[in-house]
Amino acid sequence: MKVPDGYCFLSRDGTILKATVPLLAMLGTDRPSVVGKCRFGDFLDSETERRRFAVLCLEARRTGRVENVACELKRADGLRVPVNIDLEARLRPEGAARLLKVRIEDLTYVRDLERGLVRSRDAYFNMLKDLHASLAEVRELLNEFLLAFANALDAKSHWTMGHSERVAGYCVGISREMGLAGKEIETLRVAAILHDIGKIGTFDEVLDKPGKLTAQEYELVKKHPDKGGTILEPIKKMKGVLPIIIHHHEKMNGMGYPGGLKAGEIPLLARILAVADSYDSMIADRPYRPSLGRERAIAELKSQAGTQFDPAVVQAFLKVLEGPRPTSDPTAPGVNLSRNSARSVKKTSFMVRPLLKKSP
Ligand SMILES: [Fe+2]
Repeated sequence: MKVPDGYCFLSRDGTILKATVPLLAMLGTDRPSVVGKCRFGDFLDSETERRRFAVLCLEARRTGRVENVACELKRADGLRVPVNIDLEARLRPEGAARLLKVRIEDLTYVRDLERGLVRSRDAYFNMLKDLHASLAEVRELLNEFLLAFANALDAKSHWTMGHSERVAGYCVGISREMGLAGKEIETLRVAAILHDIGKIGTFDEVLDKPGKLTAQEYELVKKHPDKGGTILEPIKKMKGVLPIIIHHHEKMNGMGYPGGLKAGEIPLLARILAVADSYDSMIADRPYRPSLGRERAIAELKSQAGTQFDPAVVQAFLKVLEGPRPTSDPTAPGVNLSRNSARSVKKTSFMVRPLLKKSP
């Protein structure tokens, strides 16, 4: 709280001739101890300050006024008081000797305010830091939950172990190559991780069938994009993910499912997912055929560009395959495998032996 300003009159040698109550309170002393006995400089903290004050007094006597002198007064009890001082030259009524009228503003309240503001600012930044950390924890939890969910889904069939996370890694790589915005990349990454969630309702016997599917079984499998959409529809935050999941089996020539959409009718992120999903399926062993191998899978992507796949997406993906292995972590620089990706690779290599045995 601001206290009233203090005033005093100083003689030519700086002796305090008059002092108001607020100034005496500021100095922590009483009138008899001060008036006629102390110089104003006695309440300054150092010899340097006293010399500086004497120079300013001379200046005030010469020019009539000196304002806004910031300094600290030393109270009788040793405490320091930050003050702002104005000096004004006054003529003595009875003579030519010039007195100095001194106004002293106690700035303790300003310092308290500053300290309060600093405390508030620090508390605010700490709160932001805590919020940021909490948000990061929630994001990490959500990400790990999504990956665990996808792994559980992929584990329905050992043929697809780690598939969703690898597809997510390819999708992140392609979308970066195509210059998509960070938000789109994240939406696609989540969609890629969950793209086959609709297979939850499909019988394992159909998914693991070693031979060709019957027309009836194929119709069942074709329902998984729509089922995925239905499963995720109640989650508001998944709104952007739904069209990607629903249309990840569409083809550029309109021969895909479930909508039979053509070319630009298919959402771009779904076209990216289609390429990544197909490539990972082709290079993996499946119950009905062995892995095509990287070269044949790439040749297949190229030959189907324009009919099944978006040529621009295929082109971007080929560049991604030339670089370091993509990771499903959108914040990773793309060189090192993320913790989760590394875990997937480990699982995948673990699954290779039984897969090769079954290969014709
Ligand atoms: Fe699918």
